[in-house]
Amino acid sequence: MNKPTDEADHAHQGTLVWDGWLRLFHWTLAAAVGVCVYTGLFGGFEAMDWHQWGGFTVLALVLFRLLWGMAGPATARFSDFLRGPGTVLAYLRALGPGQAPQRRGHNPLGGWAVVLILLVVGLQGVTGLFTTDDLFVEGPLYDLASDGWARLANQIHGLGPWTVGGVVGLHLLALAVHRGVFKERLLGAMVSGRRPEHTGEDVQRRPLLGGGLMVLAAGVVWAVLTYLP
Ligand code: HEM
Repeated sequence: MNKPTDEADHAHQGTLVWDGWLRLFHWTLAAAVGVCVYTGLFGGFEAMDWHQWGGFTVLALVLFRLLWGMAGPATARFSDFLRGPGTVLAYLRALGPGQAPQRRGHNPLGGWAVVLILLVVGLQGVTGLFTTDDLFVEGPLYDLASDGWARLANQIHGLGPWTVGGVVGLHLLALAVHRGVFKERLLGAMVSGRRPEHTGEDVQRRPLLGGGLMVLAAGVVWAVLTYLP
């Protein structure tokens, strides 16, 4: 049993809802996508090394998140937050000003937003590997692509400002709505991992497994970039 002081601390800080690896994933992904967007739009030719490294980082992070979605703690798991249309509709119907049904992890709509963000930034990273500007810069796997696939990859990658910009914009808008309309403070939880209004059990941390999967994901991306070209 917990000592009384531990219980008081827990009640004060709230429940751990996001483990450290998920938070590290989130903020590194936000930074890497930020670097890619900035260098892609404003960086010019000299910034393309940064753009590519940002893209490789995004790919390793998305791969890690797929693995963590299967092997990570409860709130990180796809099986915890991917729900059918009926559950999503019931969640939407239950929403009202100042009231959003409380969950420990992602809500049924937010769960699908996670998938959408991973798909869009992942596709942007993969197509970048096969993209060229026809002048100075080629993605590291460009030579492996057929003409048709290289053209398609170029087109998809070129839509990045709209697709990546769109999902990130929606993400930030959704957070603002949660804060303003439903009075939920989600940002603090993605920083500290804790939600003060929750009193249930902390999610497991799984530090070794998370570190191992991070190294594995980075290793797979490194191997693809080293041995495939
Ligand atoms: C390029 C920028 C960003 C990307 C690609 C991104 C992506 C994501 C993803 C994939 C998740 C799901 C976490 C998971 O389960 O893996 C998430 C959640 C979250 N993000 Fe971001 N994010 C970005 C920027 C931001 C920024 C700038 C903020 C803060 C202002 C933020 C705050 C949050 C919060 C609070 C959650 C948890 C939402 C919840 O409680 O369900 N994100 N983000």
